[in-house]
Amino acid sequence: MAKLIIKKSPPLKGTVKISGSKNSVLPILTASLLGQGKSKILDVPDLKDVVIMQDLLQHLGASIKWDKVKKEIEIETDNIKEYEAPYELVSKMRASFLVMGPLLARIKKAKIPLPGGCAIGSRPVDLHLKGFSALGAEIIQENGYVEAYADKLVGNKIYLDFPSVGATENIMMAAVYAEGTTIIENAAVEPEIVDLANYLNAMGADIRGAGTDSIKINGVKNLTGTSHCVIPDRIEAGTFMVAGAITRGDILIENVVSDHLKPIIAKLKECRVEVIETDKGIRVCGKDSIKSVDIKTLPYPGFPTDMQAPFMSLLSMAEGTSVVIETVFENRFMHVGELKRMGAKIKIEGRSAIIDGVNKLTGTQVRATDLRAGASLILSALVADKTTEISDIYHIERGYSELEKKLAALGANIEKVK
Ligand code: EPZ
Repeated sequence: MAKLIIKKSPPLKGTVKISGSKNSVLPILTASLLGQGKSKILDVPDLKDVVIMQDLLQHLGASIKWDKVKKEIEIETDNIKEYEAPYELVSKMRASFLVMGPLLARIKKAKIPLPGGCAIGSRPVDLHLKGFSALGAEIIQENGYVEAYADKLVGNKIYLDFPSVGATENIMMAAVYAEGTTIIENAAVEPEIVDLANYLNAMGADIRGAGTDSIKINGVKNLTGTSHCVIPDRIEAGTFMVAGAITRGDILIENVVSDHLKPIIAKLKECRVEVIETDKGIRVCGKDSIKSVDIKTLPYPGFPTDMQAPFMSLLSMAEGTSVVIETVFENRFMHVGELKRMGAKIKIEGRSAIIDGVNKLTGTQVRATDLRAGASLILSALVADKTTEISDIYHIERGYSELEKKLAALGANIEKVK
């Protein structure tokens, strides 16, 4: 299995270009099932999760051409011949469940394995199913599968008990052909929701209010493929901002939307990190001392849960005590045990982690338990004495394209070994 070998690195210097957003390109690829004719998706990141999504859509009947040099995917979904998603793909990537809404809207049936839990939580899909039922679908859950059938879908008002990103996306896609109007109340407002709605509207959908907690979808007759450029990955950008801060470096991060990074910029400034928004991108200058801060993860525009683990690496080197409260997922402290093996002083109490800053971490063998936990181990390894060996790095490759190459280009002492 491949590993990452990381040694203490000098302050990072230089420019890094952020890739397209994983959490935007995945729902946009499933949404292409709704359109007749070809769609061209631009700035597609080269990720393991996109490979899995490509396999899934091809299994359903889509024809896909992925030019990794031009970072473009051309997808044509005129003859969708299959309505069942295979277990071996869904079990690898929960986002596969996002094909349910488009299949239901397009061919009025779908059969998807119930996505299992993962390292960070049980990850139920009850809100997705509540939305599909409200639109008139019959839902059958048996032997680990969810089946949904409908003669027709009729618009309805749906209230989400939690502003779930995936449920908002799945219901929005299921509603594009429904008769009449659908309103999703307490909808998620993440930038990726807006990006998906922009793509759907460019295909001919009639969706208003994406980015607010009330989204109105007026049913239309058909959608046609179009070209769409994916927004930059705000979590990859945040990860590099922490890399610049923790190594006391001076880096310029290009291809970012500052507006999507407000909570991360605010928290870094609270830590006394210098963050300068320029017209070329965001410049991050780390300082000798990092001030401890408290963090509470919340749905957007609050501090993103996906940045909790990477930011904890910075706080483990801060002066003083920080408290991190994870309110979105019930088990998203898997990285803490590994950080403690590197010398971090962290105590977990329920959904809170109390971090006493230390001035030294020491490299050792550690394991990536999930995507963002893996990123946090890399960030800590950049400033830890001795050498850090990170295994199970396939988790990291799911959501970060060429992370070690991008870091090495900034001066990091990092290499991938088979
Ligand atoms: C999306 O997951 C992202 N994944 C996650 O990113 C991200 O952490 C999460 O949103 C929150 O921002 C993709 O976009 C592919 P949710 P999703 O539905 O849609 C509960 C990463 O690292 N919930 O907003 O699964 C759920 O248990 C990944 O890139 C229900 O109870 O997140 C969780 O506690 C990790 N019932 C909370 O809502 C439901 O039907 C947030 O989940 C659905 C969700």
